[in-house]
Amino acid sequence: MRILVLGGDGYLGWPTAMYLSKRGHAVGVVDNFAKRRWEMELNVEPLIPIRTLHDRVKAWEEVTGRRIELFVGDLRNYAVVESALETFRPDALVHYGEQPSAPYSMIDHNRAVFTQMNNVAGTLNVLWSMKKVVPECRLVKLGTMGEYGTPNIDIEEGFIEIDHRGRRDVLPFPKQAGSFYHLSKVHDSHNIMFACRVWKLASTDLNQGVVYGITTDETGLDERLETSFHYDEAFGTALNRFCVQAVAGIPLTVYGRGGQRRGFLNIRDTIQCVELAILNPARCGEYRVFNQFTKRFLFLSWRSSSPSRPGSWVSACRSVTLRTLGSSWMNTITIRNTPSSWI
Ligand SMILES: NC(=O)c1ccc[n+]([C@@H]2O[C@H](COP(=O)([O-])OP(=O)(O)OC[C@H]3O[C@@H](n4cnc5c(N)ncnc54)[C@H](O)[C@@H]3O)[C@@H](O)[C@H]2O)c1
Repeated sequence: MRILVLGGDGYLGWPTAMYLSKRGHAVGVVDNFAKRRWEMELNVEPLIPIRTLHDRVKAWEEVTGRRIELFVGDLRNYAVVESALETFRPDALVHYGEQPSAPYSMIDHNRAVFTQMNNVAGTLNVLWSMKKVVPECRLVKLGTMGEYGTPNIDIEEGFIEIDHRGRRDVLPFPKQAGSFYHLSKVHDSHNIMFACRVWKLASTDLNQGVVYGITTDETGLDERLETSFHYDEAFGTALNRFCVQAVAGIPLTVYGRGGQRRGFLNIRDTIQCVELAILNPARCGEYRVFNQFTKRFLFLSWRSSSPSRPGSWVSACRSVTLRTLGSSWMNTITIRNTPSSWI
């Protein structure tokens, strides 16, 4: 199968591209390296330096003998997207190519506007070019559980059956996003659902929990193939920051009022879900949604009473909930109970 990964230089995009290439698919990646520019803008960087995408593609070919085709370009530019689709002719598109940070989108007016223009316009370009060039291509789009917000009822997978004044319908589940980033994903979801309905495109929206972990079979093959680990306040998740604090032996810093509850997913599970969505595609005209997370964590931090390190901070982590939505899909559980094994 021919699979084009949009956002292929990113934390999830690069390991996904390698995973699919290793399984014999013809893989291409598209990226404009925007993430690397945002890092420079905010003066942050991943924990371990990451090779350029050109170097990683070369290293992948050296290590495995497999080629990943590289397209450098901005998804906001329609001509770029159409030309990549015409050249590569994908059977499946995996769309990770967005600004992925809620805190970044809330820094100021410019970043809020940028996030929505980048994400919504990029996805619209993908939909219009799919319609024109490869209408039978299946789209796998990364959404987020954050699209739903935190309602006081169980969250359904995309849709909810409602009885209202004696009539019944299945309608999109209410979205109460908590940032301009999450709202960009909500707008994407509506645009994709519309395109599936009117143009008969086929799409799977994967609403994933926060992804953790940096190790896959492929990233472990060579240090040049590693993916990024962020622990800064814009691109690092609270979980990543807790891991770094735990390993460094400094107190965990509470996020907000400390009351948030989030579901998490290991990077290997993320990639496996994407593969399953490609191999078991939506039908033409179908827009389907899967909510995916497997874990909740309990982080603890306390002062040591050990004679060797009296008063020093000790941190530990346990997973407290195990739950998979998307029912029959997967699951490989790859968690360890110590933060140091994740970084
Ligand atoms: N990481 C998570 O925990 C998580 C959880 C749920 C959903 N997601 C979603 O998955 C996707 C990927 O997340 P990530 O953590 O890998 O982010 P990332 O920032 O590491 O990767 C995104 C990639 O897309 C590229 N990109 C962004 N805008 C682009 C544009 N206009 N044109 C071309 N390339 C562009 C960036 O340069 C970057 O390489 C995002 O849509 C994110 O919202 C991530």
